[in-house]
Parts: sequence; C-alpha cells; structure tokens
Amino acid sequence: MSFLPGKNILLGISGGIAAYKSAELVRLLRKQGANVRVCMTAAAQEFITPLTLQALSGNPVHTELLDPQAELGMGHIELARWADAILIAPATANTLARLTYGLADDLLNTVCLASKAPLAVAPAMNQQMWRNPATQHNIRILQERGIRVFGPGEGEQACGDTGLGRMLEAAELVQTLETCCATSQALHGTRVLITAGPTREPIDPVRFLTNRSSGKMGYAVALAAAKMGAEVVLVSGPVALECPPGVKRILTESAADMLKATCEQAQQANLFIATAAVADYTPMEVAGRKIKKNAETLSIEMKRTTDILATIKREHPHLFTVGFAAETHDLMEYARSKLERKGIDMIAANSVADGKAFDQPTNALEVVWKDGHHSFPEMSKQRLAEELMALVAAHYKQRKTSDDPD
Ligand code: CTP
Repeated sequence: MSFLPGKNILLGISGGIAAYKSAELVRLLRKQGANVRVCMTAAAQEFITPLTLQALSGNPVHTELLDPQAELGMGHIELARWADAILIAPATANTLARLTYGLADDLLNTVCLASKAPLAVAPAMNQQMWRNPATQHNIRILQERGIRVFGPGEGEQACGDTGLGRMLEAAELVQTLETCCATSQALHGTRVLITAGPTREPIDPVRFLTNRSSGKMGYAVALAAAKMGAEVVLVSGPVALECPPGVKRILTESAADMLKATCEQAQQANLFIATAAVADYTPMEVAGRKIKKNAETLSIEMKRTTDILATIKREHPHLFTVGFAAETHDLMEYARSKLERKGIDMIAANSVADGKAFDQPTNALEVVWKDGHHSFPEMSKQRLAEELMALVAAHYKQRKTSDDPD
C-alpha cells in the first residue's frame, strides 16, 4: 500500500548541520507525489535558507509563530490541521527536549502540539549528546507517546566524532515514513481487546500471590493498536502504568476478575490479544481474617484458574486470537504446542531465562502461527509492540478476506 501520493506532509527542520539533507528530502517526498510544506526553526535558517526550501517544495516556508502576514495565509492551526503526517528532520537535542515538555514558543513546536497527525522525528546530533541520559530520557517519553523515532544512524560526524547520532539519509527517511504511515490506519474500525499485567490471588485480607509482570508489553501493544486506528479495550491487572491515550481501560485484580471482565468485553471484539501473566493457581480458600504465624510451616492448597485465552477462543471461535508465552527453555516447541492446545491463531513467545523481559524496557519475540513464524530481535517494547501489531493486523486482514471474500 502506498501512503505518500496526494498526502500532505509537513516537514519540520530544526538547526543542525544535517539540515542540508532536508533539501533532498523535500525533493524525494514530492517525487513520491506528496504535497510538502516546510516549517523551520530560527536556528535551521542559519544552516539552509527558506528560499531553497520554498523553491523545492513549491510552497511558502513557515517560520514565524506571531507573523500577521503568515497567519493570514495559513496560520499555525490550519497548518496543524493540513498535515496528514509531520516529520521533523533533522530533530536536534533541543527540539526533542522541547517536544517532550510540550513547549509552544515557536511555530514548529506549536504546530506539533496542535496537530492530531502522526509525528516522526529524525534525530541528528553529536554522539555524546545522543547518548546523554537527558536525551535518552526524552526519546523514551516521546516513544511512549507514540511518536516515531527514525534512526539515528551510526558513522562519522561533522564534528569529527564517530558514533550514533547521524541523521538517516533522505531516501531512508522517505521509505520509513511510507512504511509507518501505510500501516498507521490498518486497524481502523477494528475492536481490539487486550489483557495485560499480573493478577493478584488473595490469601487473606492482607496478602496475595502475584508474579513479576509489569504490564509494559501489554500496554505497549494497546498503544500500538490505538495508533493503528483500532478501538482498544485493555483489561489490566494491577500495574504502575498510566492508561495509554485513546484506550479504554478496565482495572481488575484476580484471575477470576480478569476472566469476568474479559468475557463481558469479548462479545464486541474482533481481535483478542492475551498478554496478561494470569496466575495459573489460586488459593482454594481465602482466609477471612489475617493468618497468624502460629505454626512452623504453612501450606496453602491451590486450585487451577480458568484459562482466559482458551475460554475466549472456545466461546468465540471466529475471534482472531493472539496469545503470549514466556518460557525459560525450548521456546519454539512450547510456543507451537500452546498454539495448538489453545486453538489460537498466533502466539508470541519470549524468553524469560536469566531475568530477561520481566520489567525490562526491551524484549525480543518469536511469533508463531499455523504455517509460519517470524523472529523480532531485541528492541524497545514500544517498537516491538508496533512491529508485532503490524504483523497481527496483516494476518487478521488476511483471515478476514478469506472468511468473507466480498
Ligand atoms: N492465559 C490466560 N489465562 C490463564 C493463563 C494464561 O489467558 N489462566 C494466557 C496468557 O495471557 C498468555 C497465554 O495464556 O497469552 C500463556 O499460556 P499458558 O499456557 O498459561 O502459559 P504458562 O502459564 O507459561 O503455562 P505453562 O505452565 O504451560 O508454561
């Protein structure tokens, strides 16, 4: 699917030496059939002139927030509404910091704040500035908000250093923008139900059994699905995470609560993704009063909980269903056997050997389905969730077309 032809792309240019590559970027975007408008910060104009970009884009270049003349033509709000996608290339450390804090004291940042369009940034800076914890912190926050980060690349830098921080080449940026925008509305009109986080199985009024799941992967999957245009319901166990924007969250505690809430929501769903680390066993009885330490040993008799994923698939066989599996060994074998045993459409398996994955910012996945599999190498959970959702959406669409060819 091609996204760029006829689309309105707002190119933001901030003040870095890589701004010279933006001229080529404008040319390539137009060659792909996109309408391009350029918004430059004051510092960017020290590196490349607005006149060059005006000539290449065929449109006046936007530079001032408080310019009555410019506001007469296309003011900042119109510009924000005009854009189908915004790409800031180069995005300096300063611009990234300003985006993180939502500053609105220049035209570029104000337009980004005022726009609903997908936003991507192509960082360009000295390798030490890129590695600085402040920049890394800002990048993480921007990614969590769903802002796409293209690059940076590695190599020799204008200042003589070598390392990460080079802006990607114009052709790579155009290709990445094309790919991520083409998938950006792939789940429009689809209702996605997701379980996430751990559960808490009560022992007595003050104690419970739980596990190490942070819910980060499930929340990242929920955000990724929402960004692809899906209506997302997230049934969550107790976690220390905020509800992702555009997602409806239902908070639950025990495996039984999670089962009930999920069953209630499944009726309306088209796609179900079970990322939750649901307790497999729960105490047979919950003590009504706090258990006192009267004995040397304590045994708690447990019973199996209901498998939410298998139950939903059994009750709604046409629901496209994706499970997760955390394994310490024989990853692929267990993934395949769970896929068959639960009768689900896909399973995403990850290794939890040596403390991997649980409560970590990164993860790697092996995704398995009936007649194939795909490996995602280690990357941030948000990026992984986006890649996973693109794969899930493609399989879901394929199933939908074969079920209903008209
Ligand atoms: N799951 C569920 N309800 C449960 C248990 C698991 O929905 N009561 C879902 C999880 O959300 C995940 C998948 O099932 O998608 C995990 O499969 P499962 O066989 O339960 O994995 P493990 O608990 O790791 O099982 P095993 O002990 O066989 O390794």
